[in-house]
Amino acid sequence: MDFLSELRSRLRTALISMTDSPDSFVEMLKPAQDGKFGDFQANCAMPLAKLSKRPPKDVAAELLEKLDVADLCEPPEIAGPGFINLKLKTARLAEETAKLSQDERLGITRVATPRTYIVDFSSPNVAKPMHVGHLRSTVIGNALCRVLRFLGHQVLSDNHVGDWGTQFGMIIYGYKHFRDDAAYQRDAVAELSRLYRLVNQLADYHDLVANLPKLHEQLPLKHAAIAAARQAAAAAPADKDAARLLKKSEQELIDLQAEIAAAVKKRVAVEERPELKQLADAHPKIGELARRETAKLHAGDQENKQLWDEFVPQCMAALEGMYQRFGITFDMALGESWYNPMLAGIVDELKQKQLAVISDGATCVFVEGNTAPFLVQKADGAYTYATTDLATIRHRVESLHADACLYVVDSRQSEHFQLLFATAKKFGYSQTEFRHVSFGTVLGEDRRPYKTRSGDTIGLESLLDEAIQNARKIVDANSSHLSEAERANVSVLVGMGAIIYVDLHHNRDSDYVFSWEKMLATSGDTATYNQYAYARVCGILRKGEVDAIALRAAGHSILLDTPAERALALQLNRFANAVADVAIDYRPNLLTQYLFETANCFASFYNECPVLSAEPAALKASRLLLCDATARVLKQGLSLLGIGVADQM
Ligand code: ARG
Repeated sequence: MDFLSELRSRLRTALISMTDSPDSFVEMLKPAQDGKFGDFQANCAMPLAKLSKRPPKDVAAELLEKLDVADLCEPPEIAGPGFINLKLKTARLAEETAKLSQDERLGITRVATPRTYIVDFSSPNVAKPMHVGHLRSTVIGNALCRVLRFLGHQVLSDNHVGDWGTQFGMIIYGYKHFRDDAAYQRDAVAELSRLYRLVNQLADYHDLVANLPKLHEQLPLKHAAIAAARQAAAAAPADKDAARLLKKSEQELIDLQAEIAAAVKKRVAVEERPELKQLADAHPKIGELARRETAKLHAGDQENKQLWDEFVPQCMAALEGMYQRFGITFDMALGESWYNPMLAGIVDELKQKQLAVISDGATCVFVEGNTAPFLVQKADGAYTYATTDLATIRHRVESLHADACLYVVDSRQSEHFQLLFATAKKFGYSQTEFRHVSFGTVLGEDRRPYKTRSGDTIGLESLLDEAIQNARKIVDANSSHLSEAERANVSVLVGMGAIIYVDLHHNRDSDYVFSWEKMLATSGDTATYNQYAYARVCGILRKGEVDAIALRAAGHSILLDTPAERALALQLNRFANAVADVAIDYRPNLLTQYLFETANCFASFYNECPVLSAEPAALKASRLLLCDATARVLKQGLSLLGIGVADQM
């Protein structure tokens, strides 16, 4: 039973006659920090007392009179200034644990009012190499889909691939001028990706050669600004603003110098390779010409459309291989190109409704509180990422009847989504929940965005291969009793699990530093630790030759006479709450945290409570049931995150 939710609902009933807004007070009932004082603690008497200017202890006493928890808890106690401590009746906890241990869904009930969720995730730009940012989206999005589905919602996953963007102009230009036919035959996607990088590099080169003198011109200006700021700061040593200004101007110089250094590095990278320099010289207008290829594609040019038709399915097939490794299937992968026929209509309607205006020849929506306009059609007539996303919303709301649309996308796109959602509301879609489920950047040890040694944004497939190779070392060291084939199989689970878990266990908003060592550690908050905990429980049941199905069906009682057994039972009953919490603000880390705590609880239990040698038989049966339920919670929980387990490791 989800005791926390049940107690909160009882508290809410008690609060109704004491306040008009019970919600925030209900939240103040939490699992106790220290089991000594009970299982739960409610701290709401103090703020309530402040409002009514009464002694908190009186308020707590009144609350207790109204709080009906006699069937669940021992008589509640008031401690300190007015804390209310609640301790579950052990018999009731045991009863609920026995129920949970027989329940296929481990106490997780389906929501009463299911919603239709569209989860937009992964969504890479095809024909460009995928990178770790797309890994985060893939992993977080998949976990959210699984959790929401398990809770009983209708979930449609959509891989909104970028299959219509400017990268195609670059690839088409590259294909027409630089392609290596043999390489294209061998591995079309790798060759397209090479062509994309080459054209991008050459276009960048010309841009920066043109831009570098302008950057250099700014240097003396920045120095002068620093000198002035320094003088001002010296003249008024107590003036915080002056000090801040000095800091700011110094930082601007550092940034400019870094920008120049990066540009010079890129220039040298081309110029030190004669064959590249030759290509650059032979294609001075490459950036412009690549953009023209995109425009031609969008205008329906036959040759370019044919190339696009040839490229896209191959890119999609390559992506598919990746998704298979994660066990992910999408309900849809409509992609940007799918919305192409609807874009003109969207812009017309925005104009008709007087939501969009022409500004400098471009069509924009201005949203209150934002200086940046939402650009839906460029001056040259091209539609944008924004236009496509509006058409996508129309489809999702009107045809798919979405109640909520989640966008699992890098936090760097937050302005886009802010403008998109505000525009969608004005456009008439005000009943739908739109959420940018944003996430931070994966960093290297140098705290810069994670890259491979070659300096490329890392290709994902090779990252997964490396994870599995590294996992193999751990598995070989820890699981020598397994056969070669079993170890290979377990290494895949451990490697993939490590990659997925490390991503999910961070608060998704934060950046995190990528470290093989940490993510594969067999102790600590990792997938590996949880997977080994699962296998250990399975090992106990195997050793005891326990038929789990028969054990569950036998109707044994759960006995909770020691603190470790009681703590484990309480933890197992928290599963429903942890899973429901993930769905509130779309945060899978709440589930990893729960699983880690569960594995730890089990370790303490197993340390203190012999299982197979327990006597009498009723105690042994109870402990075996606790083991079985723990294994099932770990397996189910990891599976909701997209992580597999092995019975033997
Ligand atoms: N293709 C985009 C990128 O790689 C992400 C798309 C996210 N979804 C959306 N509906 N905008 O950055």
